[in-house]
Amino acid sequence: MTTPTLHTSRLRLRPFASADADALFALHSNADVLRYWDAPPWSAPARAERFIATCRQIAEEGSGARLAIDRGSDGAFLGWCGLTRWNPDYRSASLGYCLDDAAWGHGYATEAGRALLQWAYDTLDLNRVQAEADTRNAASARVLEKLGFVREGTLREDCIVNGEVSDTWVYGLIKRQWRPSSRPHINP
Ligand SMILES: CC(C)(COP(=O)(O)OP(=O)(O)OC[C@H]1O[C@@H](n2cnc3c(N)ncnc32)[C@H](O)[C@@H]1OP(=O)(O)O)[C@@H](O)C(=O)NCCC(=O)NCCS
Repeated sequence: MTTPTLHTSRLRLRPFASADADALFALHSNADVLRYWDAPPWSAPARAERFIATCRQIAEEGSGARLAIDRGSDGAFLGWCGLTRWNPDYRSASLGYCLDDAAWGHGYATEAGRALLQWAYDTLDLNRVQAEADTRNAASARVLEKLGFVREGTLREDCIVNGEVSDTWVYGLIKRQWRPSSRPHINP
């Protein structure tokens, strides 16, 4: 699968490059950003290089796509979003995203998610996209609700991160419930 480049009105979603390693490490080593993540913040810069290598591997295997998110106006790296666990038989995949806290509250995650979902439903012909969020992560839950996801259940005591036990909400969005009216304008 070729990782696409997608343009929205304010964002550019593109394949990761080696040059993203420093910004990616800054993002994933930030304990505030990773507060409700399912793994601890990174402590070694080499983790960023491994993440980028894994992005290439995911693309080569055809199991998904992880895209860096840049702001269109100044090219600033804002974070990333991705589809993983793509199952062509089931026509399903999982959505994830992580944005720098300086960029929160501007609708960027929702805008990026919409673009990725449009690509997933139109180009990959997915039928179902799943997403999971820590039950304390109200901002992520809100993003998923704005995208049209339905909360389907709770995975009790799903994660233990640094000894802290947390529950996870499972969300799903079925293609026939994807609202075309909520699609962003995507430039070619
Ligand atoms: C979750 C995250 C992606 C949201 O990014 P964002 O660009 O700020 O999202 P948006 O601006 O598109 O939407 C956020 C929504 O959550 C709301 N929100 C933010 N904090 C909230 C809170 N504590 N309680 C309730 N709602 C909250 C915002 O008001 C907004 O909703 P609105 O448009 O109705 O006002 C971002 O906070 C992030 O990357 N967090 C760290 C990584 C992470 O947790 N990823 C998700 C893992 S499941």
